[in-house]
Amino acid sequence: MKTLGILAIAAALGASAAETLPLIPKPVTAEPGEGTFAFSAATGIRHHGDLAVEAGLLADDLAKLTGSRPKVVSKEMKILLRSQILVDIEPASDLPASGYRLEITPRTVTIIGKDAAGVFYGTRTLLQLLPAGKFDGPAMLPAVKIHDYPRFAWRGIMLDVGRHFYPVGEIKRLIDWMAFHKLNTFHWHLTEDQGWRIEIKKHPKLTEVGAFRESSPPYGNRNSDDGVRYGGFYPQDQIREIVAYAAVRHITIVPEIEMPGHASAAIAAYPELGNSDVPGFTAKVMTRWGVHSQVFAPKEETFRFLEDVLAEVCELFPSKFIHIGGDEAPKTQWEKSKFAQDVMKREGLKNEEELQSWFIRRIGKFLDSKDRRLIGWDEIQEGGLPKSATMMVWRDAKWAKHALALGNDVVMATTSHTYLDYYQAPAATELARGKEYESIGGDLPLEKVYSYNPTFVVENPAQEKQVLGTQAQLWTEYAKDMKKVEYLAFPRVAALAEVAWTPLASKNFDDFTTRLKRVMQHYDAGNLNYAKP
Ligand code: ACM
Repeated sequence: MKTLGILAIAAALGASAAETLPLIPKPVTAEPGEGTFAFSAATGIRHHGDLAVEAGLLADDLAKLTGSRPKVVSKEMKILLRSQILVDIEPASDLPASGYRLEITPRTVTIIGKDAAGVFYGTRTLLQLLPAGKFDGPAMLPAVKIHDYPRFAWRGIMLDVGRHFYPVGEIKRLIDWMAFHKLNTFHWHLTEDQGWRIEIKKHPKLTEVGAFRESSPPYGNRNSDDGVRYGGFYPQDQIREIVAYAAVRHITIVPEIEMPGHASAAIAAYPELGNSDVPGFTAKVMTRWGVHSQVFAPKEETFRFLEDVLAEVCELFPSKFIHIGGDEAPKTQWEKSKFAQDVMKREGLKNEEELQSWFIRRIGKFLDSKDRRLIGWDEIQEGGLPKSATMMVWRDAKWAKHALALGNDVVMATTSHTYLDYYQAPAATELARGKEYESIGGDLPLEKVYSYNPTFVVENPAQEKQVLGTQAQLWTEYAKDMKKVEYLAFPRVAALAEVAWTPLASKNFDDFTTRLKRVMQHYDAGNLNYAKP
């Protein structure tokens, strides 16, 4: 009872301080102290042996602000630091996973994490408290005790690199801004009708052929063609570089390989994987947006191919979750294909939905054999949801309820609150700025993103833990470059980050917008092309 009492007091004290601290996401509690700590060129970082990476990253980030890299010493080194940031880890602490305590006193700054991720998040909080952009001379940090941990384990961004392609440096920059907001899951949508972007050594035509299209729709007229060849892909060494870059920032990359639909680019590379017995069958890398009828044929050859691809994907990505798409797979080709119909008869499948489910189950078995977990868009329930699958819910909340009732986990990614390819102001306002502001349609203002509660689908308390978290969707039909991606993403990603991290009861939109003004100074300092409210 005593502990509870103290925690309750801390929460009450913390509420007002957390409101005034310019932090996004807002921490669980923040209790103001007496005095200030002077951060200066003389401030060094002392770390526990296992935290060299976190301490080193903090030093790098501080060097960008002050122009000089702080001294980094291990705990054991007998070097006196007159002004120090101490980072340490306390696995036995009562903090939840990824939690940390940050204490600033006039003498020292201490960051204690439950684990290395917690330490990393503590360093991100410290960086948000420092002045935005370069500064000379000491920065005065107010004394405070912060106690913080995330609400959800899955806090993400999905980026579609199929519709448009972004080079490695730009992906890393997006990962940096994810880390700034304490996001930890980068869902990388790597294959599409309009382009296959990941090198697969065993099947080189996927990128030789599938990574390039002959034309794209220009901004302002989506039903026309610019006639300009377009493409690009990530060689495996670049993939490894990005995975490693994300990993040190405690960000997991979940790769997505689309099947059985959104597969035109793969089928253009290897037409034998398509439903080639359908009258009028042709294969090409698509040059228009929208849903296309090309789906993989349910052939043994297709499964061998997809297993080859996924084997290389599992080698490249340590993520427990592998995303297999599953969305928007029209059944028209399977309806017309004698081969597909024969598979249905042989396997006792009543309809094409059951064929899709059979397809996904086979892939699920393969991923099981690699000790990975299958995640797919909510259409993976058509024809029966595989037991071990996690559902990424993008359409109606009813699919989340369906999955939760069956005992499956979900990630909430509904169009209503997380699709950042929607306009953030009325379409007419955005388009008045120029046709390059075109979006797919619909409105999703900042406040609506902020109002999201991913557990609104939960029907009994036991289901709470089946909601792994949430993520922002960056579909890129209308984002030819990273500047536009940034415009669509920020500051709505800040709102989503707070949805994913901050306790529901602590959320307050007015307070968020106050803190956002200060966070935008960091955006300005980093030349982030965010949408100014
Ligand atoms: C989706 O938006 N097709 C998942």
